[in-house]
Amino acid sequence: MAPQPLNQYLDCCATTPLAPEVAERMAAVQSQAWGNPSSLHGFGLAAAEQLERSRQGIAALLGCDRERLVFTSGGSESIHLALLGSAPALELSTTSGGAPRLLLSAVEHPASRAAAAALEQRGWLVQDVPVDHLGAIDLEAFERLLAPPTRLVSLIWGQSEVGTIQPVERIAALCRSAGVMLHLDAVQVLGHQPLRLAELPVDLLSFAAHKIQGPRGVGALVLKPGVELQPCIGGGGQEGGLRSGTEAVALVAGFEAALHLANDRLVAHGGRDPVAPLRDALVSALLVMQGVELSGPDPREASHPARLSHHLSLLVRGRDGDWLNGRQLVQALWREGFACSSGSACSSSGSAASAVLLAMGYEPAAAAAGLRLSLGPWHGSELLQQVPQALERARAAL
Ligand SMILES: Cc1ncc(COP(=O)(O)O)c(C=O)c1O
Repeated sequence: MAPQPLNQYLDCCATTPLAPEVAERMAAVQSQAWGNPSSLHGFGLAAAEQLERSRQGIAALLGCDRERLVFTSGGSESIHLALLGSAPALELSTTSGGAPRLLLSAVEHPASRAAAAALEQRGWLVQDVPVDHLGAIDLEAFERLLAPPTRLVSLIWGQSEVGTIQPVERIAALCRSAGVMLHLDAVQVLGHQPLRLAELPVDLLSFAAHKIQGPRGVGALVLKPGVELQPCIGGGGQEGGLRSGTEAVALVAGFEAALHLANDRLVAHGGRDPVAPLRDALVSALLVMQGVELSGPDPREASHPARLSHHLSLLVRGRDGDWLNGRQLVQALWREGFACSSGSACSSSGSAASAVLLAMGYEPAAAAAGLRLSLGPWHGSELLQQVPQALERARAAL
C-alpha cells in the first residue's frame, strides 16, 4: 500500500501512529537501557533506574502514586487483570454464600465482555446496566442493581463506538456508598482530559498507550490502595508480583513520552483537548448533509452527556433512504482516501449490527450503519470541506 497522508487517517480511536518524539525516546532508551531490570549488574541497574523514572513520570501525569501502577501489554490485559484479579478476594468476602455479581454497562468493549464471561465460568452472575438512546447508563437502574450480591462494577468511561462519557464521579460515589468495587475502562479518555486519579474514588482503571501516539504493546492498570489482586500471569514476580514478565522498558518510556505530549497539549489549552472545536465544526459540516445522523451525544448540545473530544459517530442513509451498511461505507471512504471505522475499535470484522447501537435502542438496519471518525492532534480545518465531499462521493458509489 502506498503511504497515505496522515491527514486522511480518521481512526484514532482504533490506534494512532507513533509521535516522532516518542519514537526517538524509545530508540534512545532501547539503546541505553536495554538490560533486564531484574539483573544485578550495571546493565540491569540502568534498565531498572530507567523503568523507575518512567513509572514516576507516568504516575505524576496521571495524578497517582507510583506504587499504584502495574504495567501491562495494553487495555485488554489491564481489563482482564482488573476483573479476574479482583474476583478471588471478592468471592471470599461475599458473606451471603451465594454467587457474587458483576455489573457491566450494555455498551462495554469486547475485552470487558470476555473478562466477564470468564467470571461467569467461575460462577459469577453478570448483569448489564441498560443505557439510553445516547449511550448513557441508566443511573436509577444502576443504583438499584448495586444491592447485594453485586460486588464488582466495570464500566467504560468513554465509549469507543459512540463517544458517550459516563458520569464517573457520580458512579464512583454510588459504588463507594454501596461498598462495591469499581473498575473503569479509561482507554479512550486517556490524553483527552486532565486526570487526577488520586482524587477519583475508583478502585481500578485500565489504560493503553497506543491510543495517544504511544507504542502498541504497553498499558497500565492503576490500583487504589487496599485493592487486593491476584495475578493472571505468574513467573518472575515483576510489577510487585502482579504481572510477571521481563519489563518492556523502552515501551514504558514511550508511554511516558506520549503521555507528556498529550498532557502538554491539555495544559496549553487550559485543560481542554484542542481538537474538540474542529470535531464540533466537523459535526456541524456533516449534519447539514441529507440523510446523515449523529449517534451518541451531540457535543454542541448542552443537555446531552459529554462526548469524547476527538470522536464523532454517524449513521448514513443512501439515495433510496435506507441505512447504508457501515462496513461498506468504510470501504467506500477508503477508496476516497479516508481511513475510518465501523463498529467498535478492534472488532470491525463482522458485518452484523453493532451490539452497542442495539443496546441504545436502534433497530438492526440502523445498528449495522455505524460509522466512526476519530481525530488526532495533527488534523486541521481542511477536513471540514474534504470529509463531507468524500462522504458524498462514497455514498453515491454504493
Ligand atoms: C474502550 C476500549 N477498551 C479497551 C480496548 C482494548 O485495548 P487494547 O487494544 O490496548 O488491548 C480498546 C481498544 O480499542 C478500547 O477502545
